[in-house]
Amino acid sequence: MRILGIETSCDETAAAVVADGNNIMSNIVASQIDIHSRYGGIVPEVASRQHVLTIVPVISKAMSEASVTWQDIDGIAVTFGPGLAGSLLVGVNTAKAIALATQLPIAGINHLEAHIYANWLTVPPKEKADIRFPCLCLIVSGGHSDLILMRGHGQFEKLGRTRDDAAGEAFDKAARILNLGYPGGPAIERVASSGTPHLALPRAWLKGSHDFSFSGLKTALWHLVQKEKILTNPSLVADAAASFQYAIVDVLVAKTIEAAREFRVRQILLSGGVAANKLLTERLLNASPFPARVPPPHLCTDNAAMVAACGYYHFQNGQLDGYELDVVPSLSLGSPQGTGNSSPHDSNS
Ligand code: KG4
Ligand code: ZN
Repeated sequence: MRILGIETSCDETAAAVVADGNNIMSNIVASQIDIHSRYGGIVPEVASRQHVLTIVPVISKAMSEASVTWQDIDGIAVTFGPGLAGSLLVGVNTAKAIALATQLPIAGINHLEAHIYANWLTVPPKEKADIRFPCLCLIVSGGHSDLILMRGHGQFEKLGRTRDDAAGEAFDKAARILNLGYPGGPAIERVASSGTPHLALPRAWLKGSHDFSFSGLKTALWHLVQKEKILTNPSLVADAAASFQYAIVDVLVAKTIEAAREFRVRQILLSGGVAANKLLTERLLNASPFPARVPPPHLCTDNAAMVAACGYYHFQNGQLDGYELDVVPSLSLGSPQGTGNSSPHDSNS
């Protein structure tokens, strides 16, 4: 089964063709980073206009690189939330137009669920059963830091979330404090590699809860930078970046393993843009007593192959949508009560 995936939730215009949920035939990502970096962050209006310009060429390229025509495609999977409303609308309306013209079925995909399914893209077909449920999923991106218990395909229960800044957002804000530019995660990681994490920064453990909080850490970094005049000394900037990265990773790794123990999962799945961070993946893989998976960095950050992989399981389960599919910018994944699936609430991030 070949699925065309379309992703426009934020600042990447992406399309991919994926066969049978894990064979990537093409994976095209047109990043808008150069356009937004001059503003120090994403400008929603600029993002949606840029999606309008690039969506058709990106889909055409995904089709031609996969050497397929519309007759070879079995369905269209498109991100309908969470994300920027104007950006999501471009992907969803393009998907609906193609579905109308080709009579292909369409499935609306939760971006957070798609991030989790990036893990299935790296599993050889014969080893698909090696991802064993229940899984504990840590999704760390620009807008989310969620701990999700996944009991089976399409079955999600939210255990924890961020109470303020998401992990990626904290990286982006810390990079701004340290004058390292946008996006912050890769910039902090690069500069941190020449520093040592010896500066004292706080960790919010939030004992008794699976939630996260990173805004206190960010504020502490700001005070440290002022007090120690960090910006006047490049080696102190490197130490501050390393210390900040270490503090975030400490909390993410410890709380993920703690939740994995509590819920006796058989697998840990890491995903989202922050999962591209080497310190995070190395420390989680080393410390975890459970088998843990992390997609390669280009499948952690936003892409459409993960949307198509997720779509494959929706089509397998008959979870299709009609032309009434609309965007849900504040969509969340997994009800806290463990009763259900995607729900359009919880717009904390
Ligand atoms: O998943 P993603 O590409 O987009 C969203 O769904 O938000 O995540 C983007 C976030 C940004 O905040 C970016 O700074 C962070 O992921 N990020 C990283 C790294 N690469 C991207 N954070 C830490 N280390 C990285 N190497
Ligand atoms: Zn994302």
